[in-house]
Amino acid sequence: MIRHAQIGAATLPAAEDVRRAAERIAPHIRRTPVLEADVDGRRLTLKLEHLQLTGSFKVRGALNALLSGPGTGRVVIASGGNHGLGVGAGARLLGVRATIYVPQTVPPAKQRRIAATGADVVRHGRSYAEAELAARTYAAEQGLRYLPAYDDPDVVAGQGTVGLEIVDQAPDCDTVAVAVGGGGLIAGVSLAVGARAVVGVEPAGCASLHAAVAAGQPVDSPVDSVAASALGASRVGRIPYAILGATAPQLALVDDRQIIAARDRLWEEFRLAVEPAGAAAFAAWLAGQVPGDHACLVVCGANADWSPTGESR
Ligand SMILES: Cc1ncc(COP(=O)(O)O)c(C=O)c1O
Repeated sequence: MIRHAQIGAATLPAAEDVRRAAERIAPHIRRTPVLEADVDGRRLTLKLEHLQLTGSFKVRGALNALLSGPGTGRVVIASGGNHGLGVGAGARLLGVRATIYVPQTVPPAKQRRIAATGADVVRHGRSYAEAELAARTYAAEQGLRYLPAYDDPDVVAGQGTVGLEIVDQAPDCDTVAVAVGGGGLIAGVSLAVGARAVVGVEPAGCASLHAAVAAGQPVDSPVDSVAASALGASRVGRIPYAILGATAPQLALVDDRQIIAARDRLWEEFRLAVEPAGAAAFAAWLAGQVPGDHACLVVCGANADWSPTGESR
């Protein structure tokens, strides 16, 4: 059971905020398609969010936050990759200057794409947590806005717009499964999908939500997975955790071998080229960890250079 975190209710976004976010960002994003499939005799819907601008859903939260927050004309963030791409692309669209801290472990493919948005890229630290600390310090020193990757009400509401599209495009699905890093995506989607069951999928090597549930609050946990550049938040966000305390998703764990097998199967059967995080929900579904008669799985990211063995190089 996820317990309610100590956080002011005013800080927490609600379903209405997700609907407002959808209106706000609609002119800028793609409404990604869904693919109806039959796998091993079971019905399945895949929400192809890896076809979103920038290759992941992250641009949704970034745009919603940039459009609704204080307009300083400059923003500082830290990102293992996809949040950086989302903010970089969103900032360019809106004429905002972005400074993006990435850990030294960021896959070169992601760093290249972030730099191509025109953002200033700063490589710092061996983990997301180290890059984040440096970015927050820089923003505070310079008096600039720091935009968190997942622990922010506008980011959460923006990510939830994926869920609104699922409700519209696959109205009879009974379960929605998403990958979890810091919890922004699952929190937003949980707000958006009403009474449907939500399953949060984490790699066994970086399972910050599982760790938080075990401890009764967000805590630091190890980060070691083939999907770490996307799902490697060492601690789930306080805002997502508080939302999930009310919406009560189910949790699933998959190991790296299952993630890579699922990624390869998405390619072999559907010609979908995704990064490891993008296959996590499918891995859980294949392992029988997603209940219900008709699940919708969010295929959430594609920012990898294709490699037959694992993470992008
Ligand atoms: C492709 C992909 N999927 C899932 C996630 C997890 O999102 P969240 O940190 O909001 O849980 C991320 C985060 O960067 C991501 O890049």
